[in-house]
Amino acid sequence: MSSGNDCQPQLLTKPTLGEREAAELVDRVFGLKVSWIGSLPSYDDQNFHVRVSAAGAEEYVLKITNSEDSQEPDLIEAQTRAMMFLSAEGFPSATPYLTKDGHIMSLESGDTRPGSKKYMVRLLSYLPGTPVAKITTNAQILYEIGRLAASMDKVLSEKFQHPSVKSLHRGRFIWNLANVPLLDQYIYALGQNKHRAVVEQVIEQFKGKVIPKLSSFRACINHGDLNDHNILVDSSCASLENPQYRVSGILDFSDMSYGYYVFEVAIAIMYMMIESPEPLGVGGHVLAGFESVLPLTAEERGALFLLVSGRFAQSLVIAAHTALLYPENKEYLTITAKAGWKHLMTMFEMGQEAVERTWFETAQAYTQHSPVLSVQGC
Ligand SMILES: Nc1ncnc2c1ncn2[C@@H]1O[C@H](COP(=O)(O)OP(=O)(O)OP(=O)(O)O)[C@@H](O)[C@H]1O
Ligand SMILES: [Mg+2]
Repeated sequence: MSSGNDCQPQLLTKPTLGEREAAELVDRVFGLKVSWIGSLPSYDDQNFHVRVSAAGAEEYVLKITNSEDSQEPDLIEAQTRAMMFLSAEGFPSATPYLTKDGHIMSLESGDTRPGSKKYMVRLLSYLPGTPVAKITTNAQILYEIGRLAASMDKVLSEKFQHPSVKSLHRGRFIWNLANVPLLDQYIYALGQNKHRAVVEQVIEQFKGKVIPKLSSFRACINHGDLNDHNILVDSSCASLENPQYRVSGILDFSDMSYGYYVFEVAIAIMYMMIESPEPLGVGGHVLAGFESVLPLTAEERGALFLLVSGRFAQSLVIAAHTALLYPENKEYLTITAKAGWKHLMTMFEMGQEAVERTWFETAQAYTQHSPVLSVQGC
């Protein structure tokens, strides 16, 4: 959802193609005739859901990257190669349909005027399923998301090789969890209130207790944005009281960067808390799934509370900054931030020890008996 090394949203560089232009682009670049096209939600880029009239009813996502990020082809290549690698490894990630010239992406002009902006264009396979944001999560799917997050980072870090991978060292990229201290420059956007006081505490504690420990954490490549709109699920069981979910899609690799295994589980916990009816219960299940693949070290576990809080702070501060820059989006951003503020405040009211106890006791229970495996199938 984010771009560049700062936190300027890309509204000025966001592509604005109409459906007809997008359909023509698919024909010109990929040689496919579009039979139906519709817009998909997007933040920085433009995304279209496309059906083509080839043999069978094939569906794709036309992803038109904003003009600023399009100037970093190596980074887009690394993201796309990672998706292809993961798909080949059996993960539910999209793969690119090749251009007429056999490439995974193509730099295209927005229109025919000289000097017009250029956008990187990809046609990705459409993945089935419902975003996690639209279901009520249960222990089983939270565990599964944690397990998948760990397996994905592990295989990427141990086996993924491509010359473009070095572009994933993204330095001061604002969404990398190591960069929570950079929020200092945007915190003005919160005004003076109790929210700001908590975020200041998060940043200070992060600087004092997490930053000095980073070198002891295990480094890896992070997806970096396992939010409830970037994970698709489908239900393998018809029982309404006890749905069993399976992850059918992992989307949006645009925030990938080098980080640490523990970042991924912290990011997933934070986003899974947002819409949960039992937000403090979420962490233990996600952690148990993650640790079934990659048990955390004592130091990584000790940082988890501040990492989850740090991600809340990143999301809330950047949303407030964006709302000031683009007041027309303020209402949407404020509604989205409401639950986030509530959860961050609750975490701080309860305190690190009590929250950790809830998380670690739940995760511990999985090692004694497996709550997930004991759930009956259909
Ligand atoms: N390959 C896909 N298969 C199915 N649905 C997809 C696919 N890609 C995107 N979508 C749908 O479109 C939405 C937005 O896509 P995506 O997450 O890639 O972009 P984004 O978060 O808006 O970020 P950006 O604007 O930076 O691309 C997703 O949440 C999902 O609902
Ligand atoms: Mg997304």
